[in-house]
Amino acid sequence: MEMDSIQEILLTESQIAARVQQLGKEISRDYQGKDLVLVGILKGAICFFSDLMRQVKIPVNIDFMAVSSYGSASQTSGVVKILKDLDMAIEGRHVLIVEDIVDTGLTLNYLKTNLLSRNPASLKVVALLDKPDRRLIDIHADYLGFSIPDHFVVGYGIDYAEQYRSLPFVAILDPAAYQSEVKE
Ligand code: IMP
Ligand code: MG
Repeated sequence: MEMDSIQEILLTESQIAARVQQLGKEISRDYQGKDLVLVGILKGAICFFSDLMRQVKIPVNIDFMAVSSYGSASQTSGVVKILKDLDMAIEGRHVLIVEDIVDTGLTLNYLKTNLLSRNPASLKVVALLDKPDRRLIDIHADYLGFSIPDHFVVGYGIDYAEQYRSLPFVAILDPAAYQSEVKE
């Protein structure tokens, strides 16, 4: 049972919904009249992305990238592999990356460098969660849902070993659920 491994609910459905609505308002205001492409980072951002795009009340295009980092979370190499690239060209367009969590910042740093090389009109980031304690690179989201302490979290699209994504809230995973598998 997935719920057996949940230590604590960190963000409830209604807390998330209220914050996503606010973010949608800010983004709608800031990008009014601009050619905006929302770029969702699969798979973790899926819930955040689909809720946020419906709170953005201006016309947008959507596209997705899937990336994986080499090595485990503790071996932060910063080398990222593109598993799925954008379908669209973004040159001259306003791009907003939609990410689940900024942790060490290595993934986001790679994504920003990669997308900037395609010459968008602008490139910004909206992240649902930020774990500033773990940052290795000085990078931040331009729009942020919640800053959270350094816990491993799951739910609302975010996984541990591909599990827990369908939980409608963000929860702290009981360390006992992964500690036995951490050392390989
Ligand atoms: P970074 O490169 O260390 O910033 O890694 C960010 C990515 O690691 C996120 O997009 C997530 O996919 C994953 N990640 C970081 N923290 C967590 C967590 O607490 N739970 C699940 N995935 C996480
Ligand atoms: Mg991710």
